[in-house]
Amino acid sequence: EKGGYEHFMLKEIHEQPKAYRDTMRGRMNAEGNKVILPELNLTVEQIKNIRNIQIVACGTAYNAGLVGRSLIESLVRIPVENDIASEYRYRSPIVTPETLVIVVSQSGETADTLAALREGQANGAHVLAITNVVGSSIAREANDVLVTLAGPEIAVASTKAYTSQIIAFTLFGLYLAEVRETQSEAQVAEILAAMQSLPEQVEEILAQKEAIKTYAEQISEHKHLFFIGRGVDYAVAQEGSLKLKEISYIHSEAYAAGELKHGTLALIEEGVPVIALATQESVLEKTVSNIKEVKARGADVLAITHEEHVTDLLRSVDQAFVIPKTLPLLTSALSVVTLQLLAYYASLALGHDVDKPRNLAKSVTVE
Ligand code: F6R
Repeated sequence: EKGGYEHFMLKEIHEQPKAYRDTMRGRMNAEGNKVILPELNLTVEQIKNIRNIQIVACGTAYNAGLVGRSLIESLVRIPVENDIASEYRYRSPIVTPETLVIVVSQSGETADTLAALREGQANGAHVLAITNVVGSSIAREANDVLVTLAGPEIAVASTKAYTSQIIAFTLFGLYLAEVRETQSEAQVAEILAAMQSLPEQVEEILAQKEAIKTYAEQISEHKHLFFIGRGVDYAVAQEGSLKLKEISYIHSEAYAAGELKHGTLALIEEGVPVIALATQESVLEKTVSNIKEVKARGADVLAITHEEHVTDLLRSVDQAFVIPKTLPLLTSALSVVTLQLLAYYASLALGHDVDKPRNLAKSVTVE
């Protein structure tokens, strides 16, 4: 049942190219310049009237929402907020009938996320669910459902569900952009073409697993480490950090790269591993200066970047892993795969139960 893999998590990491293809299939026109989502009830008029979007979820699905926010804001320029589902209804969120609430849940059964959906609806919002389970409670109660086609996810640590949620967010963002005319057909075509290359590009990252394993064995000897990044790299850093903590029990923190010097830099000592995501060209120089700050304090820095920056970056970092070239908007669908493998191999090196980490349940139906 594990298809020849030692663990479900490793199998599911390898299923991502298929999950991307399945989630995209049938959702673009033959010319490749338009997203089609006939399953949605949202009308053109409703889409044109959206004033704000609230993305609500827990855990890894929350982290996918962070990427969703940057995708939607950059494609459609609608203000987006991210909320942790267990916080959402207690903060009396400002919801109007022009608010679109997007709940994200792999299982579709998470109690707090379901409660957030009901809170949004009670305030007159249209609620779109991004979920992997068609008949789930969240799918049944939402006004609209965008299914991810990741297939069943058995490992407690979510991998292919997260990346499929990113694909779904990208498709939905492009769909909004078409209706609101914020992106030209040519721009949409460029993004869709880049999306179609992602499955093969994930394979290229999977092919680096021996090197990632060696690095994971190295970090498994440490008590704590840091992930840093800017923009979408910061969102991915948060997911990388969660994944590592969940299954390897190594303490880690994800920081917006520019924020470290506002206190946390004191924790960077000789030999502390820092994983720097540096895929966003527009802020690369700024990230490099943050890398230099941690290097100056003795950190052992790994960069995750595009091939073209490796030579430059190796002047300031100790090692680099490469992700294939894609649009800045789409890097999360690749860089996170490196971090998933890293968490997997760190857990393996420490002899933990990768698929069933302690104190964690696959589906959390209590608040
Ligand atoms: C982490 C993980 C959890 C879930 C969270 C939400 O790997 O799996 O953080 O993401 O419990 O679950 P769903 O998406 O089912 O609502």
